[in-house]
Amino acid sequence: MKSICVAAALLGSLACVSTLADQTGMSMRSATTTATGASGAELYGHICAGCHMVQAQGAIGAGKYPALASDPALKSLDYVAVTVLLGRRGMPAFGKPADPSFNFGEVHISDADIAEVVNFVRSHFGNQYSDKITAAKIESMPHPIN
Ligand code: HEC
Repeated sequence: MKSICVAAALLGSLACVSTLADQTGMSMRSATTTATGASGAELYGHICAGCHMVQAQGAIGAGKYPALASDPALKSLDYVAVTVLLGRRGMPAFGKPADPSFNFGEVHISDADIAEVVNFVRSHFGNQYSDKITAAKIESMPHPIN
Protein backbone atom coordinates (compact mmCIF):
# COMPACT_ATOMS: atom_id res chain seq x y z
CA MET A 1 0.00 0.00 0.00
CA LYS A 2 2.73 2.42 0.99
CA SER A 3 4.75 1.64 -2.12
CA ILE A 4 1.72 2.12 -4.38
CA CYS A 5 1.11 5.48 -2.83
CA VAL A 6 4.74 6.53 -3.13
CA ALA A 7 4.88 5.39 -6.76
CA ALA A 8 1.62 7.18 -7.46
CA ALA A 9 2.97 10.32 -5.83
CA LEU A 10 5.54 10.53 -8.61
CA LEU A 11 2.64 10.81 -11.06
CA GLY A 12 0.93 13.45 -8.96
CA SER A 13 -1.29 13.39 -5.92
CA LEU A 14 -4.45 12.73 -7.95
CA ALA A 15 -3.29 9.21 -8.82
CA CYS A 16 -2.74 8.49 -5.16
CA VAL A 17 -6.20 9.67 -4.21
CA SER A 18 -7.91 7.54 -6.84
CA THR A 19 -5.99 4.45 -5.67
CA LEU A 20 -7.33 4.99 -2.19
CA ALA A 21 -10.86 5.56 -3.50
CA ASP A 22 -10.74 2.30 -5.44
CA GLN A 23 -9.69 0.40 -2.38
CA THR A 24 -12.43 1.92 -0.27
CA GLY A 25 -14.97 1.01 -2.94
CA MET A 26 -13.81 -2.57 -3.02
CA SER A 27 -14.01 -3.14 0.67
CA MET A 28 -17.46 -1.56 0.87
CA ARG A 29 -18.65 -3.74 -1.97
CA SER A 30 -17.52 -6.98 -0.41
CA ALA A 31 -19.01 -5.99 2.94
CA THR A 32 -22.45 -5.43 1.45
CA THR A 33 -22.65 -8.33 -0.98
CA THR A 34 -21.23 -11.45 0.62
CA ALA A 35 -20.39 -12.92 3.94
CA THR A 36 -18.95 -16.14 2.55
CA GLY A 37 -17.58 -18.63 5.00
CA ALA A 38 -19.37 -17.17 8.00
CA SER A 39 -21.11 -19.51 10.43
CA GLY A 40 -24.87 -19.57 10.81
CA ALA A 41 -24.53 -17.81 14.16
CA GLU A 42 -22.42 -15.03 12.65
CA LEU A 43 -24.79 -14.62 9.73
CA TYR A 44 -27.77 -14.48 12.08
CA GLY A 45 -26.05 -11.90 14.28
CA HIS A 46 -24.96 -9.70 11.38
CA ILE A 47 -28.09 -9.86 9.25
CA CYS A 48 -31.19 -11.27 10.88
CA ALA A 49 -30.83 -10.01 14.45
CA GLY A 50 -31.25 -6.41 13.28
CA CYS A 51 -34.94 -7.13 12.73
CA HIS A 52 -35.69 -10.40 14.53
CA MET A 53 -33.59 -9.45 17.60
CA VAL A 54 -30.66 -11.22 19.24
CA GLN A 55 -32.71 -13.93 20.92
CA ALA A 56 -35.04 -14.18 17.89
CA GLN A 57 -37.83 -12.83 20.06
CA GLY A 58 -39.05 -10.48 17.35
CA ALA A 59 -40.11 -6.87 17.86
CA ILE A 60 -43.03 -4.54 17.37
CA GLY A 61 -42.23 -0.88 16.82
CA ALA A 62 -41.93 0.92 13.51
CA GLY A 63 -42.79 -2.44 11.97
CA LYS A 64 -43.73 -5.91 13.10
CA TYR A 65 -40.90 -8.41 13.09
CA PRO A 66 -42.11 -11.89 13.95
CA ALA A 67 -40.32 -13.97 16.56
CA LEU A 68 -38.35 -16.86 15.06
CA ALA A 69 -37.90 -18.37 18.52
CA SER A 70 -40.07 -21.47 19.02
CA ASP A 71 -41.78 -20.64 15.73
CA PRO A 72 -43.86 -23.52 14.32
CA ALA A 73 -43.62 -21.93 10.84
CA LEU A 74 -39.94 -22.95 10.79
CA LYS A 75 -40.93 -26.63 10.55
CA SER A 76 -40.89 -26.32 6.75
CA LEU A 77 -37.33 -26.12 5.43
CA ASP A 78 -38.60 -24.80 2.11
CA TYR A 79 -40.66 -22.05 3.75
CA VAL A 80 -37.63 -20.72 5.63
CA ALA A 81 -35.34 -21.04 2.59
CA VAL A 82 -37.81 -19.30 0.25
CA THR A 83 -38.34 -16.51 2.79
CA VAL A 84 -34.61 -15.80 3.04
CA LEU A 85 -34.03 -16.16 -0.72
CA LEU A 86 -36.96 -14.11 -2.00
CA GLY A 87 -38.06 -12.04 0.99
CA ARG A 88 -41.59 -11.83 2.30
CA ARG A 89 -43.65 -8.61 2.47
CA GLY A 90 -41.64 -6.41 4.87
CA MET A 91 -38.59 -8.67 4.73
CA PRO A 92 -35.99 -8.06 2.00
CA ALA A 93 -34.70 -10.79 -0.33
CA PHE A 94 -31.18 -11.97 0.49
CA GLY A 95 -30.70 -14.31 -2.47
CA LYS A 96 -29.93 -11.78 -5.17
CA PRO A 97 -26.75 -12.43 -7.14
CA ALA A 98 -23.76 -10.39 -6.04
CA ASP A 99 -24.08 -7.02 -7.75
CA PRO A 100 -20.96 -5.31 -9.08
CA SER A 101 -22.63 -1.89 -8.83
CA PHE A 102 -23.00 -0.08 -5.54
CA ASN A 103 -26.21 -0.95 -3.81
CA PHE A 104 -25.95 0.58 -0.39
CA GLY A 105 -28.18 -0.98 2.16
CA GLU A 106 -28.82 -4.18 0.25
CA VAL A 107 -27.39 -7.43 1.56
CA HIS A 108 -26.84 -10.37 -0.77
CA ILE A 109 -25.50 -13.62 0.59
CA SER A 110 -24.32 -16.77 -1.14
CA ASP A 111 -26.35 -19.97 -1.43
CA ALA A 112 -23.96 -21.61 1.03
CA ASP A 113 -24.51 -18.81 3.55
CA ILE A 114 -28.28 -19.02 3.09
CA ALA A 115 -28.13 -22.75 3.85
CA GLU A 116 -26.03 -22.02 6.96
CA VAL A 117 -28.39 -19.42 8.39
CA VAL A 118 -31.53 -21.43 7.56
CA ASN A 119 -30.08 -24.47 9.35
CA PHE A 120 -29.02 -22.24 12.25
CA VAL A 121 -32.42 -20.65 12.96
CA ARG A 122 -34.18 -24.02 12.65
CA SER A 123 -31.93 -25.59 15.28
CA HIS A 124 -31.61 -22.70 17.79
CA PHE A 125 -33.86 -20.39 19.83
CA GLY A 126 -36.06 -23.28 20.94
CA ASN A 127 -36.44 -24.68 17.41
CA GLN A 128 -35.31 -28.30 17.20
CA TYR A 129 -35.70 -29.32 13.59
CA SER A 130 -32.85 -31.65 12.74
CA ASP A 131 -33.32 -31.91 8.96
CA LYS A 132 -30.82 -29.73 7.08
CA ILE A 133 -30.83 -27.93 3.76
CA THR A 134 -27.75 -27.98 1.52
CA ALA A 135 -26.19 -25.19 -0.55
CA ALA A 136 -26.94 -27.29 -3.66
CA LYS A 137 -30.65 -27.39 -2.78
CA ILE A 138 -30.70 -23.60 -2.22
CA GLU A 139 -28.97 -23.19 -5.59
CA SER A 140 -31.74 -25.17 -7.29
CA MET A 141 -34.49 -22.95 -5.84
CA PRO A 142 -35.82 -19.74 -7.46
CA HIS A 143 -33.72 -16.63 -6.84
CA PRO A 144 -34.68 -12.98 -7.27
CA ILE A 145 -33.93 -11.67 -10.77
CA ASN A 146 -31.91 -8.65 -9.64
C1 HEC B 1 -35.20 -5.75 7.45
C2 HEC B 1 -35.79 -6.59 8.48
C3 HEC B 1 -35.57 -8.09 8.38
C4 HEC B 1 -34.39 -8.78 8.28
C5 HEC B 1 -32.99 -8.20 8.21
C6 HEC B 1 -34.73 -10.17 8.30
N1 HEC B 1 -36.08 -10.34 8.40
FE1 HEC B 1 -37.08 -12.10 8.47
N2 HEC B 1 -38.84 -11.10 8.51
C7 HEC B 1 -38.99 -9.74 8.53
C8 HEC B 1 -40.41 -9.40 8.51
C9 HEC B 1 -41.00 -8.00 8.52
C10 HEC B 1 -41.10 -10.63 8.46
C11 HEC B 1 -42.62 -10.83 8.39
C12 HEC B 1 -42.96 -10.94 6.92
C13 HEC B 1 -44.48 -11.07 6.74
O1 HEC B 1 -45.14 -10.05 6.71
O2 HEC B 1 -44.97 -12.22 6.66
C14 HEC B 1 -40.08 -11.67 8.46
C15 HEC B 1 -40.37 -13.03 8.44
C16 HEC B 1 -39.42 -14.04 8.52
C17 HEC B 1 -39.73 -15.45 8.56
C18 HEC B 1 -41.14 -16.05 8.55
C19 HEC B 1 -41.55 -16.21 10.00
C20 HEC B 1 -42.95 -16.78 10.16
O3 HEC B 1 -43.31 -17.10 11.32
O4 HEC B 1 -43.70 -16.91 9.19
C21 HEC B 1 -38.55 -16.12 8.63
C22 HEC B 1 -38.34 -17.62 8.68
C23 HEC B 1 -37.50 -15.12 8.62
N3 HEC B 1 -38.08 -13.87 8.56
C24 HEC B 1 -36.16 -15.42 8.69
C25 HEC B 1 -35.14 -14.46 8.59
C26 HEC B 1 -33.75 -14.79 8.56
C27 HEC B 1 -33.17 -16.19 8.68
C28 HEC B 1 -33.09 -13.60 8.40
C29 HEC B 1 -31.61 -13.39 8.24
C30 HEC B 1 -31.00 -14.00 7.08
C31 HEC B 1 -34.08 -12.53 8.37
N4 HEC B 1 -35.31 -13.10 8.49
C32 HEC B 1 -33.79 -11.19 8.25
C33 HEC B 1 -37.98 -8.80 8.56
C34 HEC B 1 -36.63 -9.08 8.45
